[in-house]
Amino acid sequence: MNWLTRFLKSSIGKKLLMALTGLFLCTFLIIHLIGNLQLFKSDGGMAFNHYAVFMTSNPLIKTVSYGLYAIILFHAFWGLYLVSENKKARPVAYAVVDGKANSHWTSRWMGVLGTLILAFIVLHMTNFWAKYKFGEVPYVHYERTISTGELAWSSTDPIVSKIETFNDGMTEHTVVKDLYVVVADQFKELWIVILYILGMFAISFHLVHGFKSAFQTLGIHHSKYNGIISFIGIWVFGIIIPILFAAMPIYFFII
Ligand code: HEM
Repeated sequence: MNWLTRFLKSSIGKKLLMALTGLFLCTFLIIHLIGNLQLFKSDGGMAFNHYAVFMTSNPLIKTVSYGLYAIILFHAFWGLYLVSENKKARPVAYAVVDGKANSHWTSRWMGVLGTLILAFIVLHMTNFWAKYKFGEVPYVHYERTISTGELAWSSTDPIVSKIETFNDGMTEHTVVKDLYVVVADQFKELWIVILYILGMFAISFHLVHGFKSAFQTLGIHHSKYNGIISFIGIWVFGIIIPILFAAMPIYFFII
């Protein structure tokens, strides 16, 4: 185990932990986006509310979620520790050398952007995740006519579990916690919409640099792969994913 401690104390070992946890968080972001895209369906939030039950009830996903919270905290605080280590190691160089000359501004601002993203995640989880788990969330009753597939929904009284389904031969009934309406209500507030849009800018700039940098740390720095890595970093994580996330608060604010 001595070699492992030594490796993790080395500067490449420290960066490797940042790279691996960062790439894990990128994967989470894609899964979270796919789930949240259900918000755009015009089904009164049925698909989204089912997805929320699955994400918070499936034992495997629940276990992965606790790992996710730990990794978010680790990535944020380990990153801040590395920024402070770098500053301590080069106090004079920072005062004299013009940073603009040898690095892109997003790379110099990674610590600040990361801190803003952590603040965003804390606010975001308080609004949705904590409310869903510990707060008061209304319930909704969906009724789908089996012969026609027609769907209707109405608010209803609380039930004991997160979801209840039954079938009376003509209609399929589902009663579920209405997280959809919680999301829709939150995004009626202009200041929250603005905060989310700013949060998505921070994520975009953080990932444009972070995604590419993680592959360099892993030693994947070859003319054969550099193009595709830059393309995914800029287009997927820097543009498409933040725009799709930002479209959600904008959509609910407008409708
Ligand atoms: C702007 C669009 C977004 C919406 C509408 C949204 C919605 C939600 C909702 C409803 C939850 C609670 C239910 C669940 O666990 O699925 C949640 C959880 C969470 N969100 Fe988001 N989210 C958005 C963007 C983001 C972004 C950009 C991040 C990361 C930077 C993020 C990080 C998280 C985390 C870490 C959790 C807890 C996950 C878990 O318990 O498994 N979300 N989000």
